[in-house]
Amino acid sequence: MYSEKVMDHFTNPRNVGEMENPSGVGTVGNAKCGDIMRIYLDIDENHIIRDCKFKTFGCGAAVATSSMATELVKGKSVEEAMKVTNKAVMEALDGLPPVKVHCSLLAEEAIHAALWDYAQKNGIEIEGLKEPKKDIHEDEEEEEY
Ligand code: FES
Repeated sequence: MYSEKVMDHFTNPRNVGEMENPSGVGTVGNAKCGDIMRIYLDIDENHIIRDCKFKTFGCGAAVATSSMATELVKGKSVEEAMKVTNKAVMEALDGLPPVKVHCSLLAEEAIHAALWDYAQKNGIEIEGLKEPKKDIHEDEEEEEY
């Protein structure tokens, strides 16, 4: 049911850990499943993401999507990182089962939350970036009913 890439990133996740003095850090959760993801970004003076770490208290798909998301944003500018959507992460993982799509949303939102933190601290605006939610489940409910 899971692709080889998902299994690989789940059993051998990249960029796990924490960061001291990150340029931006973002934490989001999904109250429905109880999973939480935190992403740390180290961003240089040219707004390029030098390094990225994550901690995920969640399901296997959440671990795999955070791992892939950190790989995808590394080396990118903050504007380019906005294009690392949950769809892009899922594609890079060769897909996720439909019931696990929400897990990839957590990765997208955690990146946005970390970028938002960075933008706030530095008084800059990143195109297309809106203030993130702490709990992405609120959104899902609106879509479901
Ligand atoms: Fe909630 Fe995967 S089940 S993030």
